[in-house]
Amino acid sequence: MAVLELKDVTFKYQLAKETILENISFSIEKGEFVALVGRNGVGKTTLCSIMRGLIPTFHTGTMSGQVLLNGLDIGEMSIGDLALHIGFVFQNPFVQVSGVKQTVFEEVAYGLENLGVKRSEIIRRVEEMLHQLNIEHLRSKHPMQLSGGQSQRVALASVLVMDPEILIIDEPTSQLDPQGTEEVFETIRLLKERKKTIILVEHKVDWVAEYADRVIVIDDKHIVKDASASEVFSDPMILETGNNLPQVALLALRLLELGKVDFNKIPTTLDEAVEQLKGRADNGGN
Ligand SMILES: Nc1ncnc2c1ncn2[C@@H]1O[C@H](COP(=O)(O)OP(=O)(O)O)[C@@H](O)[C@H]1O
Ligand SMILES: [Mg+2]
Repeated sequence: MAVLELKDVTFKYQLAKETILENISFSIEKGEFVALVGRNGVGKTTLCSIMRGLIPTFHTGTMSGQVLLNGLDIGEMSIGDLALHIGFVFQNPFVQVSGVKQTVFEEVAYGLENLGVKRSEIIRRVEEMLHQLNIEHLRSKHPMQLSGGQSQRVALASVLVMDPEILIIDEPTSQLDPQGTEEVFETIRLLKERKKTIILVEHKVDWVAEYADRVIVIDDKHIVKDASASEVFSDPMILETGNNLPQVALLALRLLELGKVDFNKIPTTLDEAVEQLKGRADNGGN
């Protein structure tokens, strides 16, 4: 059964002239890693808010359609109940910092404290999380005195420690350098190993192509493509939706155009490109 399902969701912000999203339907299975892509302002963050149940409760507007969490309509669940199932990581990790805690350890513990979890249990879960995200060395640091990458991991830890089955992560690498970006993607890969369901909004398509199972492309209020990362990023049409293609796919398309190399399929990851090109150097590739 789907963990999360949207059925024909249409939404219009109260003060807006037009709908922002129309007839959005998809379903996500447990353990899937789905990336959401689309140009700025297309409604990705809005869609995240819809999936978290913050719309139409928190942001006013008119919504039709249904969002089902494990088969139940989230319209009938409280925000608190939903928060137990769905963890949300903001685009800017500094927004996620509580501002009331003096150390990373206490910061990560904060959500569990609010739930009234026993102290011994909190310590056990926080320790486990610091270990899993490789931030044990940051435990005594002030949460406001971290680098972007460190802060990102602390923000993830403070959400993951709650052990939600679904994670919605909105542009977590927008302010990170390549190393920080890789760390975030590696963290997400670990989550996937732990069977978490992940929905990621991300512009860096090279990384998405390497890591995500599936990509949903939104353009002009609608889902215009919903397929495997490999299928989505080998389709040049994606360039018309305000998204880039991975560098290897762009290179392959260019070579095809020049009539230099024939591909069975446009590669979307480095490994795939190497696999397809390997051997050609031997048979006259000059
Ligand atoms: N509370 C709101 N009221 C009216 N319009 C909004 C509100 N929040 C966002 N919008 C508008 O909805 C559009 C989509 O925003 P958003 O979901 O943040 O897009 P994305 O995350 O894809 O960049 C933007 O044009 C934005 O200005
Ligand atoms: Mg956004």
